[in-house]
Amino acid sequence: MQANTDQISYLTQSEAVKARFDKLKQREVILEVKNLTKVYRGAKGETTALKDVSFKTHRREFVCVIGPSGCGKSTLIRTLAGLESYTSGEVLLDGKPVTGPGRDRGMVFQGYTLFPWLSVKKNVMFGLEMNGMPSEEASREVALWLELVGLEKFANAYPHELSGGMKQRVAIARALVNQPRILLMDEPFGALDAQTRCKMQTHLLEIWRNIDITILFITHDLDEAILLADRILVLKAHPGEVQELIEVSVPRPRSPDQLFTPEFIATKARLEELIHPPTEPVDEDAVSVPSRMIRFVNVADNVE
Ligand SMILES: Nc1ncnc2c1ncn2[C@@H]1O[C@H](COP(=O)(O)OP(=O)(O)OP(=O)(O)O)[C@@H](O)[C@H]1O
Ligand SMILES: [Mg+2]
Repeated sequence: MQANTDQISYLTQSEAVKARFDKLKQREVILEVKNLTKVYRGAKGETTALKDVSFKTHRREFVCVIGPSGCGKSTLIRTLAGLESYTSGEVLLDGKPVTGPGRDRGMVFQGYTLFPWLSVKKNVMFGLEMNGMPSEEASREVALWLELVGLEKFANAYPHELSGGMKQRVAIARALVNQPRILLMDEPFGALDAQTRCKMQTHLLEIWRNIDITILFITHDLDEAILLADRILVLKAHPGEVQELIEVSVPRPRSPDQLFTPEFIATKARLEELIHPPTEPVDEDAVSVPSRMIRFVNVADNVE
């Protein structure tokens, strides 16, 4: 694949992309976060994990959140899920304040969170049965969702018999079976190998295209964010504040073939600039080198 080096700005949008965003912004607002601030108070003092974070997510929008480690991404998603309290501000889902966990929000985490003693089918059924749905009806519902994630043949398998990618497909089915308004995903593909991760990204896009779901997706991976998102919320650390909300100008439908298109390259360059700002040049004379280096290997050969 050849890199296309035509220089364009990440803000440049084709007519089709512009029209898509115009349409998207006319859709109803599902999630509204207003001046959200979260301060952790612990033995070591206070940490402002989020400061004045505000944004809106429209129906069927795909928003990715990126930012350096510790900038409050997980805090944000846990707060939206109702698993964490917040210090000030507002979180509205369909215009109503979030006060705790609810079926209107589905969660998928990085770590595998399936119940190891339950089959795939029972793992997905768990939430429905807890909510009082009769077993037969729950079983029919689950069959549909397992088909959607391509795991209908593994309904009776147990988590330890599945690959990492398959486990995350089950986790997605389990989150979607309750038909939430929004799917909250915290680095869900972070533990997968590169190839499986790529397949899961394509698979998630396909699911998103086919059902009425809004997605908020946290990632460290800039390519993943550009491939998936309509808009990317970029946070900065200490305290976690919004740096920019970027409209991704890469046209849909998306595929990894777009990785070297001018829009993709320009968007990635902007994200790099925000996440890894240029550092001050180091004054070589001021760097102190330990007088005695411990030699773990034979360094007689110059590796460079
Ligand atoms: N329970 C807690 N008590 C005190 N401080 C916390 C707690 N959870 C998170 N923090 C602090 O809040 C800040 C944001 O943490 P958070 O886990 O939300 O970051 P993150 O962006 O998800 O990081 P990563 O990219 O490494 O997953 C960090 O400084 C962290 O140390
Ligand atoms: Mg995190």
